[in-house]
Amino acid sequence: MRIGIIGCGYVFDHYMATMYRHASLQIAGIADVDAARLARVAQFYALKAYPDVDSLLADDTIDIIANFTSIEAHYAVTKAALLAGKHVYSEKPFVTDMGQARELADLAQSRGLRLSCAPSNALSATSQTMWKAVADGAVGDVRIVYAEFDDNPIYLMAPEGWRSRSGAPWPYLHEYEMGCTWEHVGYHLTWMCAMFGPVRQVTAFSKQTLPDKTDQPLHPSDTPDFSVACLDFHSGVVGRVTCSIAAPYDHRMRVIGNTGMLHADTYRHYECPVYLEPFGKLSMNARKARSVRTNSLLQGLFGVGGRRIPLVRALPPGSSQHTPRPGAQWTPKALLNRFKRRQLGQQDKAIGLAELADAIRTDRPHFPAADFTLHLTELTLAIQGAGAGGVCHAMQTSFAPPTLPIQTMQAAPDYRRYANLGWMERISARFLDRMHKH
Ligand SMILES: NC(=O)c1ccc[n+]([C@@H]2O[C@H](COP(=O)([O-])OP(=O)(O)OC[C@H]3O[C@@H](n4cnc5c(N)ncnc54)[C@H](O)[C@@H]3O)[C@@H](O)[C@H]2O)c1
Repeated sequence: MRIGIIGCGYVFDHYMATMYRHASLQIAGIADVDAARLARVAQFYALKAYPDVDSLLADDTIDIIANFTSIEAHYAVTKAALLAGKHVYSEKPFVTDMGQARELADLAQSRGLRLSCAPSNALSATSQTMWKAVADGAVGDVRIVYAEFDDNPIYLMAPEGWRSRSGAPWPYLHEYEMGCTWEHVGYHLTWMCAMFGPVRQVTAFSKQTLPDKTDQPLHPSDTPDFSVACLDFHSGVVGRVTCSIAAPYDHRMRVIGNTGMLHADTYRHYECPVYLEPFGKLSMNARKARSVRTNSLLQGLFGVGGRRIPLVRALPPGSSQHTPRPGAQWTPKALLNRFKRRQLGQQDKAIGLAELADAIRTDRPHFPAADFTLHLTELTLAIQGAGAGGVCHAMQTSFAPPTLPIQTMQAAPDYRRYANLGWMERISARFLDRMHKH
């Protein structure tokens, strides 16, 4: 599939980092209103630069438009692309207004075009593993889901100087103006909604906690930089998601069932390990001891935190196995890159584009479908706009719950096999009951 990319700023480089993994994606060319940035990117990646957006949209050989423009431009660029007869993959958040969101979804449907939107992390090996384990019943019936998005007090980390690989500045003032909920909550909403279906009602609170994060003027000056929302899913599951740029880095995903818990350290590392803890009396009681809570060796011994389960190793649709040149993986640069990836993780943002391209090519529904994106947009708007008085919002949109990709079903084990209690648990259970006689 031939892709035309509009918007070549900071996030563009994230996509380019893993684009090579998806053999089905061929970049036809790029466009940006910033001529200097366009020229820089075209030279850096040896890509064709179109003189303007209209000439890129007029290219009949382009199938899909990737809209990586700033949030305020999403609506106009996506609309122009649909009117030009192109399928669209948009960066998140889709748009900032439900009327516009509905209009774009209707336009795509009326023209028989596909509309898809980031984030793509529900397709990561980590999310797919958790999703499959939930579907297998490895933690019983899921009752509660917790998702954290504390992204560090970034104002102390000199974001003014952050640059992408090809030199785009991280638009930190714009990020402050849009707010961390707009920018981030979708990363957790997407895997929660994929696994547990549509939300019936959301109860949320949002507030600015860092009025002093920059001495530069902000418009608006009071965008919330903290939010918390409780999600009441139609399926009966209850979720809680938190966003901030005040608290230290915490991106945990926790799925709590009536017989156990699944957890992963971050959504951002697409191959972040997943742990499964079957609930047992030993681990529950051991958790109460301060020395267990503060010592990972003791935690392992008593089963606190559970065991690492194998990740689903399915090649995403439209992707190819990347085999490095013999010896290439042992060069100092490759070793350093591997170390960095292991520590910081890597997002494969292009996976969402590859999924869309493959779905078009094979004539099957794509993930996320437009109704899913509308639902995420409504949720994001409700949480961002909740304010300090809080809001309880009954959802107007819904979506047909997606099914696990066939590749995941075929490649993954039945995760119930990892849900058995260990021998320590079994032996100790009857002694532990006696210890409760205080
Ligand atoms: N910065 C990040 O870390 C990050 C991460 C994930 C997703 N995103 C999302 O990616 C999108 C882009 O963010 P960014 O950080 O790359 O912003 P950016 O400001 O670095 O880049 C946006 C680019 O779009 C161009 N642009 C704006 N309006 C345009 C228009 N009408 N036509 C053509 N080009 C236009 C700008 O000139 C700029 O080069 C946003 O939706 C953002 O939420 C950003």
